[in-house]
Amino acid sequence: MNAPLRLGVNIDHVATLRNARGSDYPSPVRAAEMAIAAGADGITAHLREDRRHIRDGDIDALALLLRRLGRPLNFEMAVTAEMEAIALAHQPHAACLVPERREEVTTEGGLDLIKGRAHIAPVVTRLAAAGIRVSCFIDADLDQAAAAKAMGAQVVELHTGAYCDAVREGDPSAAGHLGRLQTAAAEAERLGLEVHAGHGIDFATVTAISAIPQVVELNIGHFLIGESVFLGLPAAITQMRTLMNQVRGGSGS
Ligand code: PXP
Repeated sequence: MNAPLRLGVNIDHVATLRNARGSDYPSPVRAAEMAIAAGADGITAHLREDRRHIRDGDIDALALLLRRLGRPLNFEMAVTAEMEAIALAHQPHAACLVPERREEVTTEGGLDLIKGRAHIAPVVTRLAAAGIRVSCFIDADLDQAAAAKAMGAQVVELHTGAYCDAVREGDPSAAGHLGRLQTAAAEAERLGLEVHAGHGIDFATVTAISAIPQVVELNIGHFLIGESVFLGLPAAITQMRTLMNQVRGGSGS
């Protein structure tokens, strides 16, 4: 029997829509509340350095809401002193460390924990010492998984973007990307790391990713928020959960 698979809903792009008008609508906090009611296990939000979508006040409100609901906040953050201070002040359930470049449209690749070890490892140590579960967003690479373990991270989130892009484009490299995700997930679990996966997941790719038995959490944002324009947020989440559950069973929540 496979471990249950949790769904974290990333609500960043509700804030993107809000910010397009410079008003306070639609609210990412309302989206988080609806997502939990519709069956999400937790909420992910990325406070980018440039605040292009989620803002500081959103993190304050999301932290309060999720504490009240007893659900986890997965705080996505660049490895900077500013973001570390915000994480330490809010004490989210988890902090997912991601690379960030101002000019990128979205997170383009995993963290390089080997090149960045001297810079990243002390942040992992301090966040973990504060009781925050530290997740490192990495490409499906065995050396990166080993580096995450060596730094004391408890979780790795495997970057599924290359696989999902290949499926969407009908590119034959998809099978190879999926194989690398499967191998990295098995190795990460063997090292004692909890394995999450995220980026670019949609209805067409969620089944194969959910079938990787070591993966216990998916974090999905852009597609779900986009699909909610057509289906509504609860229906989009329900459909995603149904596809996940067909492979893995429910979250137990
Ligand atoms: N996981 C991480 C670490 C991410 O950076 C993102 C994008 O913010 C996601 C998951 C969600 O990706 P998407 O919005 O493509 O579903």
